[in-house]
Amino acid sequence: MSPKVILVTGANRGIGFCIVQALAQRAPEHTYLLGTRSTFAGEEAVIKLKELGITSYLEVVQLNITDDTQIAAAVSTISNKFGRLDSTHQPIALMNIVLINNAAIGQNPKQDNSDLRAVYDRVFDANITSVAVVKNAFMPLLKKSEDARVINISSGRASVSLQISGQNPPTASISYSISKTALNILTLEMAKLEKDVLYHVASPGYCKTAFNGFRGLKDPLDGAKVAVELAVSERNKYRSGFWQFENEEMSEVPW
Ligand SMILES: NC(=O)c1ccc[n+]([C@@H]2O[C@H](COP(=O)([O-])OP(=O)(O)OC[C@H]3O[C@@H](n4cnc5c(N)ncnc54)[C@H](OP(=O)(O)O)[C@@H]3O)[C@@H](O)[C@H]2O)c1
Repeated sequence: MSPKVILVTGANRGIGFCIVQALAQRAPEHTYLLGTRSTFAGEEAVIKLKELGITSYLEVVQLNITDDTQIAAAVSTISNKFGRLDSTHQPIALMNIVLINNAAIGQNPKQDNSDLRAVYDRVFDANITSVAVVKNAFMPLLKKSEDARVINISSGRASVSLQISGQNPPTASISYSISKTALNILTLEMAKLEKDVLYHVASPGYCKTAFNGFRGLKDPLDGAKVAVELAVSERNKYRSGFWQFENEEMSEVPW
């Protein structure tokens, strides 16, 4: 298998951390970049991964996905380290880039809704706009990869079909659920524009993380499995789609 550079945003904790852990356990030959807002939290995560027996090359990249300056700096760092520039200074990736957009937030407005606009703006900025901006910034590197993949971590909450059929109970956060539906459509539109890049959305399931006050039912390591399959399986194994890993197998989530 050709070597990959796999960048996971929000990798310092929760499902993002587990995606790096599970990927590095399955495919230690690849390079793992932990995109984290706080480099201290990132370095702590690296220490923890090493304590868990991870031997892969790990590196922290400071990446607040809502900060354009940090996004540009991260692209530049990764290009310089893992790509080489051609005569027009376009990066030529030496390794295949996999971008896993995992970082996201869920917030609710105050009871009187006085901060409704601010909450929606923050949630949409982190969960939709920033995914588009990060992907766009990494596009030159992705385009030079022979096996470029973008995996957007979504949610069963995003499914319009599950919503209409009543299988999704009322959400804990409307802005969050809407943002994941938009992320799904964003991914479909991206896939139409860049046919050489393999795009997926992944539903990790209801996992025990800080995101839901650790009330989730799944171990986040199990939640990571869908992203692991999509990131390192043979390119033609899974068509571009909305995937989950449940009952020990991959299946498509209804859009
Ligand atoms: N947990 C679930 O049951 C569940 C279910 C379906 C989908 N998901 C999805 O799975 C993904 C991970 O969720 P989780 O449960 O692991 O959440 P989590 O425990 O709250 O972790 C979120 C991660 O995202 C990072 N993050 C938030 N805003 C960021 C920003 N602006 N820039 C960079 N990083 C940022 C956080 O970094 P800091 O430490 O700096 O805050 C943290 O590393 C999300 O996309 C979520 O929507 C989760």
